[in-house]
Amino acid sequence: MSLVKIGVIGIGNMGSLHVQMLNKGQIEGAMLTAVCSSNESRIAWVKAHTNGDVKIFKEEEAFFTESGIDAVLIATPHYSHPVLAKKAFAKGKHVLIEKPAGVFTKNVLEMNAAAKSCGKVFGIMYNQRANPLYQKVRDLIQSGQLGEIKRTNWIITDMYRPQSYYDSSKWRATWKGEGGGVLLNQALHQLDLLQWTTGCMPKRIRSMSSSGRYHDIEVEDDVTAFLEYENGATGVITASTGEAPGTNRYEIVGDRGKIVVENEELIFYQLTQSEREFNSSYEGGFGQPDCQRIEIPVKSENANHAIIIQNWIDAIVKDSPLLSPGEEGVKALEISNAIYLSSWLNETVLLPIDPDLYYKKLQENINDSTFVKKNVTNTTLDVSGTH
Ligand SMILES: NC(=O)c1ccc[n+]([C@@H]2O[C@H](COP(=O)([O-])OP(=O)(O)OC[C@H]3O[C@@H](n4cnc5c(N)ncnc54)[C@H](O)[C@@H]3O)[C@@H](O)[C@H]2O)c1
Repeated sequence: MSLVKIGVIGIGNMGSLHVQMLNKGQIEGAMLTAVCSSNESRIAWVKAHTNGDVKIFKEEEAFFTESGIDAVLIATPHYSHPVLAKKAFAKGKHVLIEKPAGVFTKNVLEMNAAAKSCGKVFGIMYNQRANPLYQKVRDLIQSGQLGEIKRTNWIITDMYRPQSYYDSSKWRATWKGEGGGVLLNQALHQLDLLQWTTGCMPKRIRSMSSSGRYHDIEVEDDVTAFLEYENGATGVITASTGEAPGTNRYEIVGDRGKIVVENEELIFYQLTQSEREFNSSYEGGFGQPDCQRIEIPVKSENANHAIIIQNWIDAIVKDSPLLSPGEEGVKALEISNAIYLSSWLNETVLLPIDPDLYYKKLQENINDSTFVKKNVTNTTLDVSGTH
């Protein structure tokens, strides 16, 4: 089987890492063939860090039509993911998009329809799905060992960002350039893991978000959302980029116990019987079900970007299943959009939200903006080891 010819579009923090992985031959069955960047300094970086065979394009159209690539990895800012993916599908390319799937579900649903009709392999870089820690959590829930879910809580405050991060690019942390803050960028991984591990989406959301609470930015850097599920289970998500030291604690309570993931450790508090059964049968007044504390030895791996790229290539070459199908990108985005909408409307919202209403409200934020971004440094940051 010949190598899959890959093109990378967007050579910033993340695209550069992807280029390096491909260029070093870390992805079996793939060959870095072309890159596309409108940024001269990033083109110079590509020339210095790849061999002379990599074709360099400044224009999207030529990149898609003249590069000879089979597949494209899209690592541009969020708004352009569905736009570029649709162009790639129209040219018959396989696509791997960086997260988020987009900024609003309206055009992400269009992207998903385009993916379906063209039949190419479509993945999304939810690299945390490749973390053995969360794979084990998913397994404990999906296998029924935790029982019916009663409550989920996730505190995601360990993705601290200083002002210089937000100042590194013009598009960051504005409604027009990024379309959201901590929820859409950093905590989106956890929103995906929340629905992926539990296998269910919330039905109702109420949220409070604070824009520019800790930074000179116009989008939110601190948010808390209350979730309600179809079966009456509840949840709370708290995300912030302004707390240090931060916490990353995911707790899921079910009828047969509790799972706690914190400090990259997984503890399963397993009941010896169903709590509901105990409740209806126990006659002693103050008792509670017996519980065993099990430390599950699983090694946490945070970065995992190479695993997702390899899995996507394998899906192209061997028709193996995708760990993170592109069409599933809309789920975390739906939760994120619902959290923003609830905060903007100051009311509880039902999921799925109205995509047109969300789009309209987002446009109002963009059009009403008086925010002026100062001190943009145009810096490319080293993201290796981040997640
Ligand atoms: N999966 C992860 O862990 C992870 C980590 C970091 C970033 N990301 C995602 O990667 C994306 C990019 O983030 P970043 O931090 O690399 O941003 P960045 O600003 O460092 O890089 C984006 C690059 O895209 C270029 N670009 C923009 N539009 C283009 C176009 N139409 N054609 C060609 N080049 C174009 C810009 O010039 C810039 O060089 C974001 O959507 C972000 O959410 C994912």
